[in-house]
This record gives sequence, structure tokens and C-alpha cells, in this order.
Amino acid sequence: MALPVVVDAEYLKEVDKARRDLRALIANRNCAPLMLRLAWHDAGTYDAKTKTGGPNGSIRNEEEYSHGANSGLKKAIDFCEEVKAKHPKITYADLYQLAGVVAVEVTGGPTIDFVPGRRDSKISPKEGRLPDAKQGVPHLRDIFYRMGLNDQDIVALSGGHTLGRAHPERSGFEGPWTEDPLKFDNSYFVELLKEDYAMLLKLPTDKALLEDPNFRRFVELYAKDEDAFFRDYAESHKKLSELGFVPS
Ligand code: HEM
Repeated sequence: MALPVVVDAEYLKEVDKARRDLRALIANRNCAPLMLRLAWHDAGTYDAKTKTGGPNGSIRNEEEYSHGANSGLKKAIDFCEEVKAKHPKITYADLYQLAGVVAVEVTGGPTIDFVPGRRDSKISPKEGRLPDAKQGVPHLRDIFYRMGLNDQDIVALSGGHTLGRAHPERSGFEGPWTEDPLKFDNSYFVELLKEDYAMLLKLPTDKALLEDPNFRRFVELYAKDEDAFFRDYAESHKKLSELGFVPS
């Protein structure tokens, strides 16, 4: 059983310092997208039924970062290790989620409420809990409902693809979803609604958001109303970052 985390004044001070260090590190290494993906992949293994997986730092285990879906994330784990070395009190689980929150913030996205106190786990879930980009609507629902998230969370969180790009050597896909992959805005949804054109990436799971009417209504809303996207994204991201976490 993981040890409880005592979130006292000292811990909060270290979180604040780590937040600053993460801002500097993300600016220096230009790695906001990778950090967001790290936070999401640590959290996105959550299974609400068995209360296993989730944002518990287990992605640092070789067994887990070697999963196919996590290809490329060792680099982000190593970057976070530099911050952990300076602030050893902070759990990996908190550090990775803080990195995700900071990545969104420094690229111009909404402020996401961050509550510290997550415990670390050495137990990694079996491979296969993260979504497969080659699949469609039922798969997206299977994966996100398993975490305890809903249709609106699925669409809002998919907007995370406003940042970054796919790398052929990591996923087999290539290119960014938007014209400015280092800016967090609603352009992912604007581009998704445009006719396909060769320059920008649309994964099968991105296109699935257009096929289902209950997904599509959120795509249309977020494409025309960035404030609505930012508000809902911040809420869904907080949910994702706190799956299975009961603050003490
Ligand atoms: C990148 C799939 C949801 C954030 C990627 C890549 C794939 C993928 C295939 C390319 C990886 C690479 O080649 O480097 C999916 C699927 C999802 C999903 C199937 C299901 C809905 C999310 C969510 C977030 C997110 C919920 C965050 C809230 C990112 C980011 C990148 C990325 C920021 C870019 C990483 C970089 O530039 O290195 N995703 N993703 N994704 N994903 Fe997702």
C-alpha cells in the first residue's frame, strides 16, 4: 500500500517551487505537448471498477513506459526527474499532473485547478488501457467510460490535440493537428470541422468525434466558442488529473 502524502505548508511551498521550475523547463526544452501527453497517459489508465491505474506516477516504471502507447514519453519522465531531484518531497504522481497543468497554462490555455496529495504506486496496469487511435466511437466510449468520464469529457479532452504532433517513429502517424502546435486554443475543433486537407493530422479517433451526434454538438460548440472550450476543458482536465484521488 502506498504511503499517505502529508500536504502541509512545506509540501505546498515545494509544489509552488516545482511549478516555477516546470515553467522554466518547459520553456527551455519546448516540451509542453510531451508533458501534457505524459500527464494524460499516467492518468488515463484508470479503471473506475477496480480502482486501479490512474494518476499515480506508475508510468515511471519501465514496465509501463515501454508500452507501445507510451512511446516517446521516457524523455518527459527524464525531464520531470530533474525537477523531482530538486523537490524530492513531491510525489511523481503530483509532479506529472502538475507538469500537465503547467503545459496547458504556459501555452495560453485555461488555468486548471491543481490539488496536490496523490500517492505514488509501483504497480503498473497491464498494457491496453489507453485508447487506440485506429478505432472509432464505441472504443472511445469503452475507454473513457471505464475511467468514469463522459461524452463531454471525451470531446473537451480531445482538444488537447491543439498541442503537439504525431511522430512516425512513435505512433506511426505524422504531423500536427493545428497550424500552431505550441499554442493552446480551440483550433483543433476549427480544423476538425474543415474538409480534409493534406497538411494537418486527423486520427480516426479525432474523426469519430464528427460521426456521433452527441460528440459532434460539442465539437461545433467548441469551434465557435473558445471560452466554452476553455471552461469545459479545465473542468475535464481536472477530473482526469484526479481519477481515483481522494484529497486528504
Ligand atoms: C499525441 C492518440 C487523447 C494529448 C498523440 C498521438 C497519438 C494520440 C497517436 C501521437 C503520438 C506521437 O506519435 O508522438 C490519442 C487518442 C486519444 C488521445 C487515440 C483518444 C481520445 C488525448 C488527450 C490528451 C492528448 C485526452 C490530453 C488532454 C496529446 C498531446 C500529443 C498527443 C499533447 C502530442 C505529443 C507530442 O507532440 O509529442 N495522441 N490521444 N491526447 N496527444 Fe493524444
